[in-house]
Amino acid sequence: MRHLLSITDLTVEELEELLSSAADIEQYPEKYAQRMAGKILATLFFEPSTRTRLSFEAAMLELGGHVTGFAGASNSSASKGESVRDTIRTVSCYASIIAMRHPLEGAPWAAVQSAQVPVINAGDGGHHHPTQTLADLMTLKKEKGRLDHLKIGMCGDLRFGRTVHSLMEALSRYPGNEFVLISPRELRVPGNLLVDLAEAGVPYREAESLEEEIGGLDALYMTRIQQERFFSVEEYLRLKDSYILDEEKMRLAPKDMIVMHPLPRVNEIDVKVDNDPRACYFKQVMYGKIMRKALIIKLLSETALPAKPGRVQITTGKQCKNPRCISSTEQGLEPLFYPVHQVMRHGRLTRIPTKYVCAYCDMEQV
Ligand code: NCD
Repeated sequence: MRHLLSITDLTVEELEELLSSAADIEQYPEKYAQRMAGKILATLFFEPSTRTRLSFEAAMLELGGHVTGFAGASNSSASKGESVRDTIRTVSCYASIIAMRHPLEGAPWAAVQSAQVPVINAGDGGHHHPTQTLADLMTLKKEKGRLDHLKIGMCGDLRFGRTVHSLMEALSRYPGNEFVLISPRELRVPGNLLVDLAEAGVPYREAESLEEEIGGLDALYMTRIQQERFFSVEEYLRLKDSYILDEEKMRLAPKDMIVMHPLPRVNEIDVKVDNDPRACYFKQVMYGKIMRKALIIKLLSETALPAKPGRVQITTGKQCKNPRCISSTEQGLEPLFYPVHQVMRHGRLTRIPTKYVCAYCDMEQV
């Protein structure tokens, strides 16, 4: 059985295979109209969604399959206290494949412990969102013609923006890419992702001014400040208008720079920018559905999990310190950790006596 929890579960060759399969699906949709006949997709959304859930469902329907599921934890037995693993084990009896979204980080990693069918992570807290990345990769491929040698500006909430984390993980595996990480200090990219970039030798720079950086970018990936992940209302209010992309800033951007956004938008892109030919965020929505069709076909056609060198997971006798981690609430879930030997300190990769990172949510334990 094959799951998609993080984008690194797919090799670069498999990403390429999905992109070419998507190109064929886009050109000849009728060829695929019955490909998933008799199969059922369950969309289990414990958190709000418009695009991702409907995109999965439309993808499955267009492949001739069926859909079932729930939108909102209050419509499921989670509201009665059921664990994620029990819900998944139950739904495995009804569906051929599951797409789940959960507010707790690492929830899909707990889910696969009881799943009898493939599980797709459709977003877990502020952690990962690999299928949005599939949409983003198709957008870059179609609009920029390549996935390598790109200078990508990520702007907004880089701390809680899960789409940013997954996209960085994907693009850092292609040669010549470079990141400009534009955010307020409070919303910078989590340290473990910066360690991965540094270890992979991917150039990146943290910055605070969009105006100063926009002129040198091939693609600008705007994000919403993730209100629901803040612990303090005051902090959200202080940071919510940090970046607003408007026509004036677009005048500073290269003629061939594209603007991406996973959506929903709040106010971080002025609606007037929608008419600019460089605005690609609604194209991303369409590409997302096509890539999800390619993904469903792939996961339901594969029987064996290709061997992937797994990282060593250990128990430390302690709980994860992240209050938003699935291991903090899921009954009987054993906390697991990866040992790490390097961290970023003052912008440099530094060797340290062993520390631990949670195997569910990736938070460094301090
Ligand atoms: C994003 C998400 O849910 O993480 N939306 C999406 O799936 N397209 C982005 C967001 O909510 O800001």
